[in-house]
Amino acid sequence: MAKNDQNNDLMEKIVSLTKRRGFIFPSSEIYGGFGSSYDYGPIGAELKNNVKQAWWDEMTKFQDNIVGLNSAVLMSPKVWEASGHLTEGFADMLAECKKCKRRFREDHIEEGKCPECGSELSEGRKFNLMMKTFIGSVEDKAATAYLRAETCQGIFINFENVRESMRMKIPFGIAQIGKAFRNEITPGNFTYRTREFDQMEMQFFVHPDEADKWFDYWKDERLKWYLGLGIKKENIRIREQKKDELAHYAKKAVDIEYRFPFGWQEIEGIHNRGDWDLSNHSKHSGKDLSYADEKTGKKFIPYVIETSAGADRSTLTFLINAYEEISGGRTTTTESIKEKEVVLRLNKKLSPVKVAILPLSKKEELAKKTRETFDLIKVKFESQYDETGSIGKRYRRHDEIGTPYCVTVDFETLEDNAVTVRDRDTMKQERIKIKELTEYLSKKLSQ
Ligand code: GAP
Repeated sequence: MAKNDQNNDLMEKIVSLTKRRGFIFPSSEIYGGFGSSYDYGPIGAELKNNVKQAWWDEMTKFQDNIVGLNSAVLMSPKVWEASGHLTEGFADMLAECKKCKRRFREDHIEEGKCPECGSELSEGRKFNLMMKTFIGSVEDKAATAYLRAETCQGIFINFENVRESMRMKIPFGIAQIGKAFRNEITPGNFTYRTREFDQMEMQFFVHPDEADKWFDYWKDERLKWYLGLGIKKENIRIREQKKDELAHYAKKAVDIEYRFPFGWQEIEGIHNRGDWDLSNHSKHSGKDLSYADEKTGKKFIPYVIETSAGADRSTLTFLINAYEEISGGRTTTTESIKEKEVVLRLNKKLSPVKVAILPLSKKEELAKKTRETFDLIKVKFESQYDETGSIGKRYRRHDEIGTPYCVTVDFETLEDNAVTVRDRDTMKQERIKIKELTEYLSKKLSQ
């Protein structure tokens, strides 16, 4: 199979697996779908929450000088005037096909011809990506507001509130996870580019003289985060943006890129935003957002080093990275022999279900013991009680959603009060006493 076909094939398999196993559904499907919008199902919601939680822990819990924030999606339109999103460069060049009228991002077109029908394209024109809405009952200019295009503007306008209330001293950071919206001309590649997405952003406020040092620091830290959660080294890289790629606010930027089936693409940006944001918000709001050095009393506008990741892109990245097909069947049940099996080798921290509790059979005698085991485990770990289908099918189902441990309750359990624990990756099975199970799993899940 040609490389391109293999890659398309992999994306198709991911889309199909995520639908089949309750990770991601096309939005509004019963109405024929709604362009590039997706819903996270029960398993996907857990996975995405785990991605967000891992980021939140890393950026707030494990740091002494970063605090969290949860700001509103709707803000004064003045915020977006000050930030430059309405006036400067927050726009893509849009080109329209003269024949079929389809619209494309000019920088995504390689040959100046319509990718759909091959006809000539119109001259490119600027298209602002801010998503408009109206506040209140009148739909006029005065009522126009915007859904935020990046979460960090909520951080900049709260710089003083956070600094004062939390007695923060530079260097310090503010972290936030939340929805952002962009009227993308060409969304696509499943959840890679959508018009509604979650960002995980951290703005680190520093003295201008220290900006380069912190930029390098956060670049390394962020790369380590992905590697620490199992992203394969050969599939992730850092690429410095060229001058003509920089966003209107950035002095310097690098992208963390992942090798997707559709090519190397950005998953996170690390930007030196200089004093762009705080200066502009000072100017537009009339509020002094400068910072007085504790020792010298000298005032300066802090520079911002930002780390900006997408929760949906990260989730997709972890899914693709974890996907593995094993030919010939790896479980020993006859029905799976020679069939391809899928294992999602997710980092255990990210796995949507940590432990599956499986009675060997649906027979009444096992139900009570299995229930008891489930009740013991579910208060400690994200668990699933699963009794439908043969044991082999259930193992495969849990391999496909990345469950690290399957606990089987069998007839011997009634005699010896022990269960069989199967490891997703090694497929090794161990017999563990029920009274030692919580401790055993705690240990295993923290490794
Ligand atoms: N505050 C800086 C900022 O927003 P960005 O490079 O435009 O920078 C940062 O976006 C991250 O947000 C991207 O690396 C990506 O992970 C995510 N992101 C941006 N646009 C997206 C979209 N249309 N769909 C999904 N994720 C997106």
